[in-house]
Amino acid sequence: MTLILSIETSCDETAAAVIEDGWIVRSNVVASQAAMHARYGGVFPEMASRMHVETITPVIREAMQQASLTWDNLTAIAVTYGPGLPGSLLVGLNAAKGIAFGRGLPLIGINHLEGHVYSHWLKVTDDAVMGNALSFPLLILIVSGGHTELILMRDHLAYEKLGATLDDASGEAFDKVARLLGLGYPGGPAIERIATSGDPMRFEFAMPKVNHEFAFSFSGLKTAVLRTVQSYGPTDGRGQVPARVPIPDLAASFQRAVVHQLVEKTIEAANRHRVTEILISGGVSANRSLRETMARRASIPVRWPPMWLCTDNAAMIGAAAHHRYLAGQRDGWELDIEPNLKLA
Ligand code: KG4
Ligand code: ZN
Repeated sequence: MTLILSIETSCDETAAAVIEDGWIVRSNVVASQAAMHARYGGVFPEMASRMHVETITPVIREAMQQASLTWDNLTAIAVTYGPGLPGSLLVGLNAAKGIAFGRGLPLIGINHLEGHVYSHWLKVTDDAVMGNALSFPLLILIVSGGHTELILMRDHLAYEKLGATLDDASGEAFDKVARLLGLGYPGGPAIERIATSGDPMRFEFAMPKVNHEFAFSFSGLKTAVLRTVQSYGPTDGRGQVPARVPIPDLAASFQRAVVHQLVEKTIEAANRHRVTEILISGGVSANRSLRETMARRASIPVRWPPMWLCTDNAAMIGAAAHHRYLAGQRDGWELDIEPNLKLA
């Protein structure tokens, strides 16, 4: 049996969890800084690392208490070492090193994106079976604030990148367009909410032309939304929209275009590689329109994590760490942050 304390501080959530055997969530604590960053309209890196410093110790203590464990019960300490904001990653990594060193426990560095992938292996219902009985090959669409990637997974810990965004990440597009429309931060939930009362067919945004069939692009879409807003009058690009702009229709049409691009490429890749299932991971997988459209278009099962596992958390880091631990990974004290770490 493994009992892994995992720590995640790559962006603006300070999180710690204890995971048993890679799938049972013994505890999962997330302290979100979103409300604070909302005042600045996005994540303020310097502020994020300072808040991690203040919050990390109580969050870890809470995770250990909820799991009713002492340090002696732990098998290893896992921590996200990239990709992410340098100052934020450093706080989690140093906390993990301190505990691992002090308690004589193995240290395991985890790629944040691998964490999003392994969120699918966590036990989320009472009748779940280990690993959700997922069988390879699997296709994973990772959609977050920093990433948009299509990954083919042929076995545990084995990834092949089929495509990625050439410019903005899909979550970033939601955040930028929300800012443009004066809807606040984080943008995804705000756009999704207002889009429910809008007409998604009101504005037609074309699929971008890209040089690779599984590559994504969202920056042109953002510009197209800006042009549409400007056609109603002058704008400062930061939320001051001309009075007559039909914001719900524009948000709904933008969301439809993002979802359409994500879904069509994923379905094409799933057919090409004859995968057994499609998994959607990362913050944007919280989007209902994306989930429903993907499920409707696919002829194979489509899975997404429950809401509390879509956005950043440490439970997913602990799930990935279990497989890394079994594969023999042990990191030394020289382990450093890798802000631009890739999955494949
Ligand atoms: O995975 P995540 O929590 O952090 C990163 O690793 O980036 O993803 C955050 C991103 C943000 O861009 C946020 O706007 C987006 O996920 N997001 C959504 C929704 N909820 C969060 N995008 C669309 N619809 C949502 N419901
Ligand atoms: Zn993430």
